[in-house]
Amino acid sequence: MNNLASNSSENELIADRVFVRESLDKIPAKRQLSVQENADYERKIIALLAAKNTVIVTHYYTDPLLQALVDKTEGCVADSLEMARFGSDSSASTLMVCGVKFMGETAKILSPEKTVLMPTLEATCSLDIGCPIDAFSAFCDQHPDYKVVVYANTSADVKARADWVVTSAIAVDVVEHLLAQGDKIIWAPDKHLGRYIQNKLGAEGDEILLWDGACIVHEEFKLKALGDMQHLYPDAAVLAHPESPLVILEVADMVGSTTQIINAAVNRPEQQFIVATDSGIFYKLQQAAPKKEFIMAPTSGEGATCRSCAQCPWMGMNTLERLYDSLLQESNEIKVDPELGKQAMVPLQRMLNFKRNN
Ligand code: 13P
Ligand code: SF4
Repeated sequence: MNNLASNSSENELIADRVFVRESLDKIPAKRQLSVQENADYERKIIALLAAKNTVIVTHYYTDPLLQALVDKTEGCVADSLEMARFGSDSSASTLMVCGVKFMGETAKILSPEKTVLMPTLEATCSLDIGCPIDAFSAFCDQHPDYKVVVYANTSADVKARADWVVTSAIAVDVVEHLLAQGDKIIWAPDKHLGRYIQNKLGAEGDEILLWDGACIVHEEFKLKALGDMQHLYPDAAVLAHPESPLVILEVADMVGSTTQIINAAVNRPEQQFIVATDSGIFYKLQQAAPKKEFIMAPTSGEGATCRSCAQCPWMGMNTLERLYDSLLQESNEIKVDPELGKQAMVPLQRMLNFKRNN
């Protein structure tokens, strides 16, 4: 099936595209801090959070040092759906969102009255930059009878153009609900998740049109090497994030969002798991199921093209040092045009309400 909304080659990795490479080239090298420096930053950040009525909302893919800091404060470490909910429900006046830019924008759209800061405004996402508003809007205009469903990993402009926003935790459920009421769907930007939804729901022909985007991290998981690993660990269950290629998802024992992966590791009977998602999740996996063993799914082996090697380079930009600077100076504030924010709030609120009602 090939109903992708672009002419780029099917085999071209998203990391090879010029706009992604340009963004990756701008990421500065990470400064390694000593144990003492990290401890000093942690202490100073905890004091500032209390003084400035601020909570940290962070994603499982960020540095374990940051996740450990959140564990000691009133913040949250979560998947992108829970991050959105937590930020919206929080009584803090300032949210420090550690993750990538769309997460900060989502928090600001849902809570325009709050100040939303990030350790850096340069942390983006290959799905977001692969779905520019002008081209995407033109594509939607060509299909006026389609409902526009976009993944949370998109800009505020793209969200404002959409009927629905979803995350990986509820993507299948929302699309199933829309197909059941007779809607045809534009799905953007992740083609792998889009194909997974098509397959899972048995969508036919042009019922779901896909945008041609991908995640540079999940796109690198390799089927042949995964098969070899399964021979080494025959009792291990494979847990995969749905941004992985369909061939990986077809052999996985469980496919779900980052939170759903952690819950599966806790609740399933297996003692070993091969995990196909960003390695940052291992911190929470080990915390949630300390007696179980977690093995990284391979991004190397035959046909290897590993660049990010299961580590999102943009998530990696969230360091304690940058977090401290931003909190101290109240810099890197997320701004969303209020009118645009109001439009983007509608599909985002649908997303929050959908899960709550079902
Ligand atoms: P989750 O919503 O599953 O946490 O995914 C967010 C993301 O960016 C995965 O790459
Ligand atoms: Fe985007 Fe992939 Fe990074 Fe998630 S892991 S933020 S989808 S580039």
